[in-house]
Amino acid sequence: MMPMPTAQRPPDKGAFVRDMFATIAPRYDRANRVISAGMDEAWRKRAIALLAAPAGGRIVDLCCGTGDVAFHLLRTDPSLHVAGVDFCEPMLEGARARAPRDARGGDVTFTQGDVTRLAFDDASFDGAIMGFSMRNVDIDATLREVRRVLRPGARFVNLDMSKAPNAVWRTLFNLYFYQVVPIIGGIVGGSRQAYTYLPNSLTNHPDANALRDRFTRAGFTDSGFERRMGGAIAIHYGRVPA
Ligand SMILES: C[S@@+](CC[C@H](N)C(=O)[O-])C[C@H]1O[C@@H](n2cnc3c(N)ncnc32)[C@H](O)[C@@H]1O
Repeated sequence: MMPMPTAQRPPDKGAFVRDMFATIAPRYDRANRVISAGMDEAWRKRAIALLAAPAGGRIVDLCCGTGDVAFHLLRTDPSLHVAGVDFCEPMLEGARARAPRDARGGDVTFTQGDVTRLAFDDASFDGAIMGFSMRNVDIDATLREVRRVLRPGARFVNLDMSKAPNAVWRTLFNLYFYQVVPIIGGIVGGSRQAYTYLPNSLTNHPDANALRDRFTRAGFTDSGFERRMGGAIAIHYGRVPA
């Protein structure tokens, strides 16, 4: 078959996102702490509390990046078995480099894979969690996959940026997010371009209510969310029917 001319080829968002994270991987953790003023740690902790993972359970950390959520899971409960999945090898290298210190001897693996096509059996996990990544993926394909790999009764928790409902706060926050974050990202994260994309990825993202409805439509029950930072952050959750 003749290759499709470049102009007619659909843009490969996945490859673009993967290359972008490869560029910022070495300085990702430091930039995160500066941009969130260290508050991301508390949000991750709350997301893990909402997951309520069963002791000794098998948990998948989707779009695990450099492993922040995975390591938090093990700090919260060292008996968990955590599988981190991400499609960006340099981010995974960061996670593997941190593991000897941050996993504290816990069971964690970091594997390359696309969360819209998980290489896991049906009903093989007791919980799933995703941090700051839903804006980058095909939401419905990801929710379908998460639901497939979770056992009946297991929970999925998603922590991400969201759209603050109060217009004044949203305007102020957007000023920071769209104007200041790219500057900080350029200085601390090493790529102004990447940290311009990241805020922009929120523009077409569903608001918190709409995302909750997508969870429900994907077959999750008890779907809901908690807002943080006046709604600039949202933690969504849902459960696979028992
Ligand atoms: C903003 S980082 C979040 C990393 C980590 N979860 C955290 O909380 O710090 C987003 C991550 O999603 C990954 N990613 C984006 N789309 C993906 C996909 N379709 N499959 C797997 N990983 C993906 C990127 O490679 C990147 O590491």
